[in-house]
Amino acid sequence: MTDSIKQSVFLKALRGEKTERTPIWLMRQAGRYQKTYRAIRQEVDFLTLCHQSDLACQVTVDAVDQLGVDAGIIFADILLPLEAMGAGLSFAKGEGPVLEKPVSSPQDVAALKSFDVAESLGYVFESVRLFVNARPHTPLIGFAGAPFTLASYLIEGGSSRNFEKTKKFMYTEPAAFASLMDLLAQMTVAYLLGQSNAGAHCLMLFDSWVGALSRQDFEHYVLPHSKKIFAALGDGVPSIYFGTGCGSMLDLMALAGSTALGVDWRSDIKQARAVIGPDIPVMGNLDPCVLFADRSTIKSQTDLIMQAMQGERGHIFNLGHGILQHTPEDNVKYLVDTVKNWSPSKVGV
Ligand code: CP3
Repeated sequence: MTDSIKQSVFLKALRGEKTERTPIWLMRQAGRYQKTYRAIRQEVDFLTLCHQSDLACQVTVDAVDQLGVDAGIIFADILLPLEAMGAGLSFAKGEGPVLEKPVSSPQDVAALKSFDVAESLGYVFESVRLFVNARPHTPLIGFAGAPFTLASYLIEGGSSRNFEKTKKFMYTEPAAFASLMDLLAQMTVAYLLGQSNAGAHCLMLFDSWVGALSRQDFEHYVLPHSKKIFAALGDGVPSIYFGTGCGSMLDLMALAGSTALGVDWRSDIKQARAVIGPDIPVMGNLDPCVLFADRSTIKSQTDLIMQAMQGERGHIFNLGHGILQHTPEDNVKYLVDTVKNWSPSKVGV
């Protein structure tokens, strides 16, 4: 790792060190809200874009260059490993992801393939290598989906509102559910370590839908697997654990062993920090819908978060979830500039 990366505001904040300003990057900073991304998507479909390392690198670089953010996140998707497991992934236009062979029985779990990550997902490692060469002074985040969130796609066959099938499977087939979670956790460790070996400077675990569970169920069915993952990643590379709707379980998430925690906008960031404790850096947490508002609203909502975290070490600014498709591009850039230029004296200006 180069010295400029080691001393970047992003990695310093992840180490809980004092920084000259608050670092910022944004979930889904590469995506359909961008004109350049839409132009590339006119030519290739989403999965092809993920599979072609040169294009995935290009899209990652475009977001970093256009926004001036403090970290890149490699362009890929949490569902790619499910494709490698033989679940049959496709993205139907306007409908989100579809898994053609959903898991609905213990036999289906037993039939899932474990696979060699280098062979099946080597194209993601190559995208990482290409980015690190292209932007040697920009920290890069590698990522994966967490077992519960991946299991929910596998069991529901796609996106879900209430996770009925997932929870039914979890409650009625606890042994098969545990072995599914185990398999996903093992695969996730190999996939994340592959990304850090390829040069990623930070690893993020997206447990986007775990907030659908009760505290007790999170603790019983999920937390042991998250702990295993972060323990296996070791201390060599910093990590971020993120979920949405997790306000009631942040103290438990903090036990998983990640370096930092991401929180969504439903939580008050200062209260979240109080629950998590001062030693775990916190990432967040502007409501992505604020970016649909006028600039003075974006500024005042940003001020609230920045003021709440002023003087605190270990804050990385982000949205509380990914940038939405129809977000005005200029507003995203305005947010990044606002956070980068923020000072207490400019509040409300
Ligand atoms: O810039 C970045 O953040 C990196 C790229 C990235 C994508 N997906 C690209 C993408 C990342 C980090 C993800 C993670 C991801 N994928 C998550 C976890 C984060 C979250 O949002 O909670 C989840 C749940 C997924 C699954 C997924 N992928 C869904 C539900 C969808 C369809 C929803 C939609 O917005 O249409 C995707 C597709 C997807 N992944 C797109 C992008 C840019 C849009 C695809 C397109 O170009 O048509």
